[in-house]
Amino acid sequence: MLKDKNILLLVTGGIAAYKMADVASMLVKQEADVHVCMTENATKFITAETFSVLTKNKVYIDVFDETPDDYVNVPHISLGTSADLIMVAPATADIIGKIANGIADDMVSTVVLPARCPILIAPSMNVYMYENKIVQDNIEKLKRFGYKIIEPASGHLACGYDGKGKLPTPEALVESIIHEIAEEKNLAGKKILVNAGPTCESLDPVRFITNHSSGKMGYAVARAAANRGAEVILVSGPVNLDTPLGVNRIDITSAEDMYKEMTDKASWADVIIMSAAVADYTPEHTADEKIKKSDGDMSIALKRTNDILKTIGSKKSEDQIIVGFSMETENVLENSRKKLESKNADMICANSLRTPGAGYQVDTNIITMITKDDETELPLMSKYEAANRILDKVLALK
Ligand code: CTP
Repeated sequence: MLKDKNILLLVTGGIAAYKMADVASMLVKQEADVHVCMTENATKFITAETFSVLTKNKVYIDVFDETPDDYVNVPHISLGTSADLIMVAPATADIIGKIANGIADDMVSTVVLPARCPILIAPSMNVYMYENKIVQDNIEKLKRFGYKIIEPASGHLACGYDGKGKLPTPEALVESIIHEIAEEKNLAGKKILVNAGPTCESLDPVRFITNHSSGKMGYAVARAAANRGAEVILVSGPVNLDTPLGVNRIDITSAEDMYKEMTDKASWADVIIMSAAVADYTPEHTADEKIKKSDGDMSIALKRTNDILKTIGSKKSEDQIIVGFSMETENVLENSRKKLESKNADMICANSLRTPGAGYQVDTNIITMITKDDETELPLMSKYEAANRILDKVLALK
């Protein structure tokens, strides 16, 4: 996702500097061209050699490290101007203060000044230092000037205090880089409503009826849409997934909850993508107390739920695009084509539970995108990639 992106990591003197070796390694694995500048103090926590071995690039610490070979493109200028993204992490109170006030007295504080790319700053320090009004004022000033601040995590800090000030995990830092630059922002200004995951229909306080949906497809759609600049609301059934960056998530449990949230938000959206596996039936009665067993068998009376896609499809406005999913075990395309019409959708993404690599739980999918004009069969690909192809098609339909 970051192939050939030029990423400049600026590492300053906090204990969390050691985590940046993982960040550099993860970025290199994604085929990014990674450069590192460190402050003198950062070298007390992690060596420059660690980063040069991982990135295969020279690590700069002092502006006067520059050799005659460097003078064609002086690194204290070219490192910043040639970067697609700069990340300052861990960012101490000192570097935050310097950048906020235009001070350039070492390599790290100097390279940010000529940069034209997005700059992400990840503060990491003692909780009271972080809460200090001057530090907060500097952070606010940086935000006003367009720097993106990555909120520190809360927890037990290396200084012995508990509170806010931890550098987020390497995975979270890499995800924030992906969110910023992996995709072209061709959905900026668009409002996209997505639903995902299963619903749970309660029989009593102990038991419920649900399905195998993991939510991975819908979460991939929400993540891809947010990475492409859209404003995204994700209405989610109970799943074990992190909320994608920049996505506003609303948790629900039952088909009825899902119906309420989706119909409430539908008029807000330019695009609605419904990948949730909504229960078609729910128990006629939900017992207040645990249902006790008896000697004989038992059967449960079920009643139909509302078809959310059909309801939203019947009210859709001229310029709205509505995408449904269709999960089948047989006659996949034929059944899915019927859903396109019966639910008044602009596109149905058909997938078969019987095809290896497609369907619930897995990270890949094989989808056929069906519109009234054409059908496009996508090969096996990651759910994120499939989500991007669906969004490409949505843009083409608009
Ligand atoms: N859907 C919905 N509300 C429901 C059931 C399904 O909005 N009560 C949506 C799903 O989110 C999906 C589409 O309708 O986008 C198709 O869902 P699917 O389960 O494949 O088909 P159903 O319409 O439920 O029909 P059947 O179960 O008979 O195949």
